[in-house]
Amino acid sequence: MNETIISFDRHIMNEQRKHEGRGDFSSILSQIIFAAKVVAAQVSHAGLVEDILGRTGEKNIQGEEVQKLDVYANKVFINSLNYIGKVCVMASEEDEEMIMIPRENPKGDYVVMFDPLDGSTNIDVNVSIGTIFGIYKRISDSGDGTLEDCLQPGYKLFGAGYIIYSSSIILVYTTGNGVNGFSLDPSVGEFILSHPNIKIPARGKIYSTNEGNYPYWKKGTLEYIDYLKSDRNTLGKPYTSRYIGSLVADFHRNLLKGGIFLYPEDTKDPKKPTGKLRLLYEANPLAYIVEQAGGYASTGYERILDIKPNQLHQRVPLIIGSKDDVLEYEAFAKKNLD
Ligand code: AHG
Ligand code: MN
Ligand code: MN
Repeated sequence: MNETIISFDRHIMNEQRKHEGRGDFSSILSQIIFAAKVVAAQVSHAGLVEDILGRTGEKNIQGEEVQKLDVYANKVFINSLNYIGKVCVMASEEDEEMIMIPRENPKGDYVVMFDPLDGSTNIDVNVSIGTIFGIYKRISDSGDGTLEDCLQPGYKLFGAGYIIYSSSIILVYTTGNGVNGFSLDPSVGEFILSHPNIKIPARGKIYSTNEGNYPYWKKGTLEYIDYLKSDRNTLGKPYTSRYIGSLVADFHRNLLKGGIFLYPEDTKDPKKPTGKLRLLYEANPLAYIVEQAGGYASTGYERILDIKPNQLHQRVPLIIGSKDDVLEYEAFAKKNLD
């Protein structure tokens, strides 16, 4: 057995040596890891402890039922990052406004965007859920961060990652030099390198989408999904359908095995004409990761990472995964521009 066990801390130390002045960035990552361990502990025995499951009875900015674990996870990530003096502003899927660093705390050079708990509808039924995060360098000079710091396009990301709370707790992250996965070893309480240098296959055999939205899809999407389910596609037989309903879990499976995840625009909810998923907290971080692993992420018409955000809770269609599959979807979408 290889004695060199690479812990996450050792990995970011190695990363830091490659790049000047990443000390601040490394301490942000370490705090995110700490927060993830705290959330993982709650998730793992959520069914047992009082009052961490179920709904709060409130609705969030997204107009969605807020789960208690959403609120809990949100607070844990905010409190883990707002005192270390490395962050100047944060934004969360769960908070309508930007999250400012408390006046008495020092501000730093980084901006953190996060979806504290992804897949909330799966919390109470013991299905995989996760956390997604993206880290930018600030644009503003000093002091409190600004909205402009938060509305940066995804290609400006400095680092991104996600944690999946499942049969094992997996962290996957990139700082622009490839993608690495770490599994939490509960016996030592450390994330250990388990998936070095992840690369997504150029083409997969799996597609992931909520087919219940079929009646609301545009022609290009309908034709593409029908194509995947026929023997006309490049595989010569129907793709396998796999849909967990937690973006992080569906994305992670496709990242490792190859495949395409689609949450396209649909006419189901006039309030969400450009699809359900959020650009800042879901699409951009995962698009950055998938491109670092050799994949691609698109709205069907443009590269996700090129989009200039114009508001904190902007939604985008998200087509993400194996590059050849996503490019093939784009061809169907563009052919049917109606
Ligand atoms: P969140 O729990 O952060 O709101 O995200 C849920 C998202 C995403 O995880 C998943 O892919 C999608 O919602 C599932 O939506 P449908 O139930 O409409 O398929
Ligand atoms: Mn989400
Ligand atoms: Mn969420």
